[in-house]
This record gives sequence, structure tokens and C-alpha cells, in this order.
Amino acid sequence: MDTKVLIIGGGPSGLLLSLLLTKNDIDNIILEKNTALHVANRIRAGILEPGTVKILKKAGIGKRLSKEGITHSGFNISFNDQIYHINMKKLANDTVTVYGQTEVTKDLMDKLAKINSKIFYKANNIKILNITKPKIEFTHNSKKIKINSQFIVGCDGYHGITKNFIPKNIKKIYEKEYSFAWLGLLSDTKPISSELIYINNTNGFGLCSMRSKTRSRYYIQCSNKEKIKDWSDDRFWENLYKTLPSDIKNTLQTGPSIEKSIAQLRSYVIEPMNYKNIFLAGDAAHIVPPTGAKGLNLALSDVNCLSSAFKSYFHKKSEEELKNYSKKCLSRVWKTQNFSSWFTNTLHNFPDEDNFTKEMKKNMLLDLINSNTQKLHLANKYLGKY
Ligand code: APR
Ligand code: PHB
Repeated sequence: MDTKVLIIGGGPSGLLLSLLLTKNDIDNIILEKNTALHVANRIRAGILEPGTVKILKKAGIGKRLSKEGITHSGFNISFNDQIYHINMKKLANDTVTVYGQTEVTKDLMDKLAKINSKIFYKANNIKILNITKPKIEFTHNSKKIKINSQFIVGCDGYHGITKNFIPKNIKKIYEKEYSFAWLGLLSDTKPISSELIYINNTNGFGLCSMRSKTRSRYYIQCSNKEKIKDWSDDRFWENLYKTLPSDIKNTLQTGPSIEKSIAQLRSYVIEPMNYKNIFLAGDAAHIVPPTGAKGLNLALSDVNCLSSAFKSYFHKKSEEELKNYSKKCLSRVWKTQNFSSWFTNTLHNFPDEDNFTKEMKKNMLLDLINSNTQKLHLANKYLGKY
């Protein structure tokens, strides 16, 4: 089997890349180790920057997003038991859209199925045999299959294999694990607020988010040693209640969880995002802590860049964009890492934090709330405008 671009990983990055390439008549194949159902049902964040909405609409999957996505012109930050509003529309004249990653994934899968794209689900034992003249071998339905391609793109997430093919003496890895995690719960209950609330109080971080007007997504900070089996729904709601600001806590609507999970917080970057004919995109190349919901936005921005570079290469015979891909993406990656890490550090309580640091953080937030310049800066970062 031959193809132009072999994509390893069929999460949002791999799916969007395949769609954009197919739309531009660039032959491609996705190899995904899990089933379509497994990929479609993963619960992740749900805030789309305006740039991401544009990319998805341009890719032709904006119909349901336009209908069901909820426009948010601001978000709230709560500390010292007070709630402060960041009005992005007023400050920076733009908005974000609440639309779950699960929905983006479903839209991509539906579109790809309609255009008969080539995806092998349950592709096992993927082996990259050659990276200069890419050759890949994998097992599918107990059959060994070989593919020759011009390029390999690793869209295989943090635990993927593609990045291992960038030699140790070429790649640099920057990584930080946080000493706490997020415990998240999804429920069919009315969200406590019409816009998101990022909370810091003595219990730590909390986040009130949503998927729709009747589906809420909440998070609380927990130790990274916690086990999900120890968290009954009641225990979660009790702890969330303690984290909420006094003015609104009694309006919290609780109910049975649809999903509950613990996510470790991590910052990670691999440089460069390209070696020979191998390219990395999305979580395969970088992870941001979830505060600010940048992961999906960053991943889709990589893919947008890479698809344009392949278009230039295959249709205009120009290698320029492919050569600049890593540098261009890494510039956005580090800006996003900077924001995500600042937002995380400011809103969480670190286990060994002294009272001086705690007070400094609160005063920093107070300064921010009282300064239109700083609020505009924050609004632009939240909107993905660097
Ligand atoms: N072979 C084939 N597929 C693989 C392999 C492998 N060896 N290893 C991993 N995969 C698949 C996974 O099963 C998964 O479906 O690669 C896919 C990677 O998907 P994601 O982890 O969702 O990464 P990405 O598509 O880049 O999406 C980024 O996901 O984690 C969030 O915050 C992140 O929202 C962002 C988005
Ligand atoms: C979510 O809804 O899952 C979510 C929203 C905003 C964040 C992180 C996660 O910053």
C-alpha cells in the first residue's frame, strides 16, 4: 500500500489533518490503535478559541458547531470568596465557544466517513521501519500490512511512539509534573452559572464549566495520589460545595455523574517537532495543564499549519512551510505554555506553599482585576490571541 501522508493516531489532531489533506486531494491514511467508539467517547475540555472555530468551519464541519456551540463573551475568576468577571467581548471584542472535544471528534469522524477517508482502527504493533523513505508495518485483523509513504505524522498523543524516532541527540524534552490533579465530574444538571467560574479558595482550585444549558462539568483540585474509586458522587459534590464562593454555593444543582475521572496535570514540550520526514502535531509534541483549556486549541492550530505546509509542498512544490513548521508552531506552543502555567500556578494551592506566596498570588489577582490593561492581556490569552 502507498500513500503520501501516513498519520499515526486518530484523535482530534489526526482526524482534522486527514480531513484537511483529503479536501486538498492529498492522499493519506490514519492508523489508530483504539476503536472509533473509544476515541469518540473520551471526555476532554470544551472551550474553543475563535481561531479554532474558524479552522473547523473552514474544514467544513461548522454546521453543528454553529447551531449547538454556546458563545461566551466572558468568564469569571473567584478568589477571596468574591467573583470577578472578565468581559472578553468588551475588552478584546471577541468570544469563545463552548463545544466539547467529544462533539468536535464526532463531527470529524462523521465527515471523514462521508468522504470515505482511510482509517484503520485497532491498528496494532505499528512499527516504523524507515524514516528517510517512510515505511510502516502494522497488524490489522491479524493481518500484517505494510505502507510506504512520503511523510509520517505523529498525532499519537503523549503516550505515542512516533516521537521516539527523533534521535536522542536531536530532541530536547521539557517536562514538569504538578503535585496535584483535577477530579472532574460530568452531570446532567443545570450549570451553576451562565459563564465559567475559575475558583481559588482555601481548599484549592475549582472550576464550574458546562457542555450545554443542561449539562455541567465541574472540577476540583485533588492530590495526585487520589483514586477515583474513593470518590463517590456525594463526596465530590460536598467538596465542590466547600470550594464554591458563598454567594452562589446554595444554587448548586447536584445529580448522578455521567462520567468522573482524575487527570494528572503536566506541562511538556518536545523540540523540534520535525525530523527528516517525520512531523509531530498535538499532544504528541506538547501537553499543557488544563487550566484555560488550551490543549485542543493548540493541537488544531498545529494541524492547520501542517496541512497548509503539505498543500504548499504537494501543489506548489515548495518545501519552505514544511521547513518552518516546527519553529512556527513552537513559538505558539511556548506562548501557550506560558499562559497555561501562569493560570495554573495562580489558581491552585501547592501542597508546600508558604503563606507569603499565597498572599502574593491573591494580590497579583487583585491587581489584575483592578487593571484594564492586565484584564485585556488575560482576555487576549484566553482567546488565543498572542
Ligand atoms: N498507534 C496508533 N495510535 C496511537 C498510538 C499508537 N502507537 N499511540 C496513541 N495512539 C492514538 C490514541 O489512541 C489516540 O486516539 O493517538 C490518539 C491521540 O489522541 P489525543 O491524545 O487525543 O491527542 P491529539 O489528537 O493530539 O488531541 C489533542 O486531546 O489530550 C487532549 O488536551 C488535548 O484536547 C487536546 C487533544
Ligand atoms: C471543561 O469544560 O472541561 C474545561 C473548561 C475550561 C477549562 C478546562 C476544562 O479551562
